Amino acid sequence: MRNVKISAIGTYVPPRVLTNSDLEKLVDTSNEWILERTGILERHIADPEMATSDLAVEAGKAALEMRGIDAAELDAILVCTVTPDHFFPSTACLVQHRLGAKHAWGFDLIAACSSFVFGLTTGAHLVGAGTHKKVLVIGADTMSRIIDYTDRTTCVLFGDGAGAMLIEPAEDGEPGFVGFRNEVDGSGGEALKMPAGGSRLPPSHETVEQRLHYVKQDGQAVFKFAVRRMHEISAGLLEQTGTPASDVKLMIPHQANLRIIKATADRLGLSPEQVVINIEKYGNTTAATIPLATMEAINDGRLKKGDLVLFSAVGAGFTIGANLWRWAI
Ligand code: UT7
Repeated sequence: MRNVKISAIGTYVPPRVLTNSDLEKLVDTSNEWILERTGILERHIADPEMATSDLAVEAGKAALEMRGIDAAELDAILVCTVTPDHFFPSTACLVQHRLGAKHAWGFDLIAACSSFVFGLTTGAHLVGAGTHKKVLVIGADTMSRIIDYTDRTTCVLFGDGAGAMLIEPAEDGEPGFVGFRNEVDGSGGEALKMPAGGSRLPPSHETVEQRLHYVKQDGQAVFKFAVRRMHEISAGLLEQTGTPASDVKLMIPHQANLRIIKATADRLGLSPEQVVINIEKYGNTTAATIPLATMEAINDGRLKKGDLVLFSAVGAGFTIGANLWRWAI
């Protein structure tokens, strides 16, 4: 496999903010409960006329602008999402058209909260194989469209957003992709799902009445699994690549719950300075959490060229993933 690097990043969040006190007016919850149990203070919500492709296009444009290239140079676009505009055409097709990426093919990648990690791994291998030179990986989710704002156990957790990273070949010795470890454990499928709308339970009056087109979660089951597996996958990747935890400049984890992140960092022996947390501002944006947190680390001066960065996530499925990259921008 040829060396590959992340050569640009772009993000987008819709401007409208939904605070914990706004949610106090919708369901029986409190700012204290949400903050203490999740670490979330507010999240961004897309206006009704916006869909996932709109967020994805903005993030994609920002990444192309950072790199200073035209979309026509892209070879492929991967849109990581659980909230596509439609089942088909894929959101990747919509984004390809809107960006004017006339030489790119692409597809949607569904791995819930691990989507972006799986997308980075896939993009790295497309470029690493020598068959692609520029692959745009976008994580974009409009979770507000599949959240039940009468269900206090889920509506406080999620937000909307998008982020994109461009993957390109790297010169020998240049910082870039170090390794990956991705897994699925389909035995956990029932713990976090949107039950209806697919071929198992097509839309009907009954599915709508029973609110089956919304996210349903066994929070405790997901929590326990995430704490255990996010540590294991990350520790496994560090071992596989011969990397001591002290060499990791930053762990940029999926942002689902502050307690999951802190438990993972503790078990890995990482100091707070080695962990990026921005869940308080965005909540869980599913496929967008990792690029949003990465952008924040860059803007805060915490992530610089040559730094070793560990991306890790656990999501519905269950899906579990970790990637190690040396940051190249
Ligand atoms: O992105 C990947 C997937 N998602 C995750 O990783 C999420 C994993 N799970 C979690 O983050 C946590 O389980 C939650 C944040 C969802 C819930 O926290 P918890 O500490 O596991 O709370 P719980 O479900 O055990 O509920 C404790 C209590 C219950 O009341 P009782 O039965 O003790 O009277 C809930 O009904 O808190 C109640 N509760 C709430 N109270 C106020 C649940 N949601 C709320 C709420 N406001 N929003």
